[in-house]
Amino acid sequence: MRAVVVAGARPNFVKIAPLLHAWRRFRNDHVLLVHTGQHYTRELSEFFFRDLQIPRPDINLGVGSATHATQTAEVMKRFEPVLANFRPDVVVVVGDVNSTLACTLTAVKFGIRVAHVEAGLRSFDRSMPEEINRLLTDAISDFLFATEPSAVRNLRREGIPAHKIYFVGNIMVDALHKFLPRAQRSAVLHKLGLADDKHRRAKIDYAVLTLHRPANVDAPQTLTRILEAVARLGERLPVIFPVHPRTRKQITAAGLDSLLCARRASGRLRAAPSRGVWAVKPLSYLEFLHLMSQARLVLTDSGGVQEETTVLGVPCLTLRENTERPITLTQGTNRLVGTDPERIWKEGLAILEGRRVPRHWRRVPRLWDGKTAQRIVTILRAALR
Ligand code: UD1
Repeated sequence: MRAVVVAGARPNFVKIAPLLHAWRRFRNDHVLLVHTGQHYTRELSEFFFRDLQIPRPDINLGVGSATHATQTAEVMKRFEPVLANFRPDVVVVVGDVNSTLACTLTAVKFGIRVAHVEAGLRSFDRSMPEEINRLLTDAISDFLFATEPSAVRNLRREGIPAHKIYFVGNIMVDALHKFLPRAQRSAVLHKLGLADDKHRRAKIDYAVLTLHRPANVDAPQTLTRILEAVARLGERLPVIFPVHPRTRKQITAAGLDSLLCARRASGRLRAAPSRGVWAVKPLSYLEFLHLMSQARLVLTDSGGVQEETTVLGVPCLTLRENTERPITLTQGTNRLVGTDPERIWKEGLAILEGRRVPRHWRRVPRLWDGKTAQRIVTILRAALR
């Protein structure tokens, strides 16, 4: 069997790692790993390959950053010859980034079947670029691997035949289970002044913030409202904020650097950080997992972080009005708080003061059991051999 596995951006790498590991057992299968190059800096790409033990990509399309149309078109142009040369039985795409849609479209037009891992998630908000990528990818894929029952329902409602849909669980949880023990040995807490040298456990309470959605960071007013609310929480406990490059640019452009605490050039915090919002460079997978696992509270607009905090049992406030991952609300530790500063502050405070314990503490959704990659490989091999 010949398969192409595609990855382009940071969250994709977490999803392909378990898949490639599960496939390694079948030595007669030829699996080609294609990196589109949508993310290319060391922090967003190389460090993830290292931490997740992903082999070097066989091919890197090197597309880099551009507008949506240019980036999507560039991936398509460069991916087509790969398919022409390799002639796979299936192309496996993951998640909802521009590379996911671009490679799906290219493969389908080439007459090659596509498997979409993390199919069916819907925010019902078409202003999100990811929602468009999800809708279009699912409409033309042949194998749709869903993480939660709502995704199966969404696909059925959109007219996808039942035989194409497989409820297999959450592949990111495979990576989390496999790498959490290793993450706990990471030096990140010490590096950030949150743990003493010998102790891998945090010695003080802290919160974690991540922010990168265009709707939150590209509009200066929204970005200001969010950062001011988080800065208010930062008066109660240090907030560690690994800053995505998109967000970094927008913070500087909006003149908001003064809301963030100064750091040394190396990104290391000298001693235990006092209160405030501490901007640090994007962290690697193992570092971020460890940081998140011991946080009192996580504030985020990421999709994956909503799921990871649910599995870790860490309270999560999602800085969006909607989520395409509703199971994290009904069975997890997630709560939608939008971008209203008063709401962010009140909900954050309620968690810090122990007045709001997530209702479904440590109840992990069905099939989020670390075996999703195995299920996917079994299904694909049975269908395509
Ligand atoms: C992309 C995905 C988003 C995903 C996110 C994870 C799309 C439409 N968006 O958003 O779904 O949640 O990745 O991070 O596919 N940049 C760098 N280094 C890099 C890559 C990007 O500095 O390696 C900077 C560039 O200035 C670029 C900006 O970040 O213009 C945005 O990058 P891009 O890949 O367009 O989108 P993300 O915001 O990362």
